[in-house]
Amino acid sequence: MASTIQALPTEVVYLITAGEVIDSLASVVRELVENSLDAGATRIVVSLWPQQWRIRVADNGCGMNLDDLQQAATAHSTSKIRSSADLWKINSLGFRGEALHSLTTLADLEILSRVLWVEN
Ligand SMILES: Nc1ncnc2c1ncn2[C@@H]1O[C@H](COP(=O)(O)OP(=O)(O)OP(=O)(O)O)[C@@H](O)[C@H]1O
Ligand SMILES: [Mg+2]
Repeated sequence: MASTIQALPTEVVYLITAGEVIDSLASVVRELVENSLDAGATRIVVSLWPQQWRIRVADNGCGMNLDDLQQAATAHSTSKIRSSADLWKINSLGFRGEALHSLTTLADLEILSRVLWVEN
């Protein structure tokens, strides 16, 4: 074992974090379905190709605009909290801004989305 303490490189930190968030195929499904529920979805379709470790989750939630799409899978990025004070009044399933970034670290992530159009 190394005898001196050193800070880990960022990519190693991300890999360790990703392994904590995504520890199984089921945890991928859970994280994506939680995102769908947080987006207000009333219809969620989960498709699995377990032999290829492939999962698709489609929902009819609020969707994302282009700016949010580009930000969604970056580290520590969330629309659900803004400050430490918000941690005391969480009303969503997710809030860490970790799940999608973890998926990009461990897998090929593809997101297709558009903002939900609600007619008045
Ligand atoms: N299915 C979705 N519909 C609409 N927006 C989504 C969807 N999935 C993710 N997002 C957006 O992408 C952001 C990042 O998602 P991610 O799962 O990485 O973080 P989170 O849900 O905020 O927190 P956690 O890491 O605890 O799950 C979310 O905060 C949300 O704004
Ligand atoms: Mg999430």
